[in-house]
Amino acid sequence: MSTNRQWIYARKPSGEVGPENFDLREAAMPEPRDGEVLVKTTLLSLDPASRAWMQGATYRSQLNPGDVMAGWGLGEVVSSKASGFSPGDLVSGEFGWQQYAALPARALAKHDKKHKPEHILGALGITGLTAYFGLLDVGKPRPGETVLVSGAAGAVGSIAGQIAKLMGCRTVGTTRGADKCRWIVDELGFDAAVDYQGENLDKALKAACPNGLDVYFDNTGGAVLEAALRRMNVFGRVACCGAISQYNTASPSPGPFGVPGFLVTKRIRMEGFVVMDFYNRRAQAEAALARWLDEGRIKAPVEIVEGFEKMPGALAGMFAGKNRGKLMVRV
Ligand SMILES: NC(=O)c1ccc[n+]([C@@H]2O[C@H](COP(=O)([O-])OP(=O)(O)OC[C@H]3O[C@@H](n4cnc5c(N)ncnc54)[C@H](OP(=O)(O)O)[C@@H]3O)[C@@H](O)[C@H]2O)c1
Repeated sequence: MSTNRQWIYARKPSGEVGPENFDLREAAMPEPRDGEVLVKTTLLSLDPASRAWMQGATYRSQLNPGDVMAGWGLGEVVSSKASGFSPGDLVSGEFGWQQYAALPARALAKHDKKHKPEHILGALGITGLTAYFGLLDVGKPRPGETVLVSGAAGAVGSIAGQIAKLMGCRTVGTTRGADKCRWIVDELGFDAAVDYQGENLDKALKAACPNGLDVYFDNTGGAVLEAALRRMNVFGRVACCGAISQYNTASPSPGPFGVPGFLVTKRIRMEGFVVMDFYNRRAQAEAALARWLDEGRIKAPVEIVEGFEKMPGALAGMFAGKNRGKLMVRV
């Protein structure tokens, strides 16, 4: 055990991200310093924001070619020079795409082994917390209202839609293709699904949301956001979670059209959020999500790709819509 394998962000993509943007490198095993912990990665999360970090600064600084690719992971403590951490502890943090990482103890969260590892990294981790706070604190759904979730077959969207159902809302999701549309209704309990790549998005949304939209949980931006804004009811809320339709390009489309007109006449509140803003209430959300999971009131679909060498391909696959639920790689 003397070397560490790492995926390096090697070349900036001009369009779609793919394996050609990364290099696999062997590096020396990291040595933890005082206050640090050496972690062996077991699961790595795949996140659409990775592509945005390659493009420019977001809520975090831009990645530069030559950096170890950034990303969150779950792993086991190998050795520790920090109090509170011992070999064998289960921890998560921003490990980067590498098999071992030496990180300051303050950058790690320690986890109870009673939960499944894939749930800790997914429905009980950033994915679930994003859905929980974005929907409940930003979207503020009330029973009987109509909630639209885009990216509804993905990690955050699948959980957000199920929470909306728990809140007593009529819940509609957008995803691509008939199979995924059927899946979110039959498997996740959405009331209706709309294929956003279908022929007439406006018409399909109107049919699926006959009483208009009170809350739109936006994972995609782009055409779905534009169509959703046209269907919003007075005093509707748009929770802007992400804009995956705009990440794979250096020149995102302008728009949506009609803002601020729609916002003024319909008194719509459109608000972006980043999940870390809510971390002071993380324990509350984790407890609620764990209870819903244990009681079988929500499902946490997960797709695990086997093998560290598959990281770049898995990220590209996410933009091609290959995942259902939370996508991760077992290292
Ligand atoms: N604000 C925050 O704190 C926060 C935290 C985590 C994630 N996010 C955001 O939440 C969103 C979902 O992230 P996730 O981790 O749950 O990923 P995900 O939904 O599991 O995976 C991405 C999905 O997006 C869809 N997609 C890909 N390209 C698209 C396009 N051009 N137009 C529309 N849909 C497209 C694909 O599903 P289809 O087959 O349906 O196209 C794909 O499966 C992202 O925008 C992400 O950046 C925000």
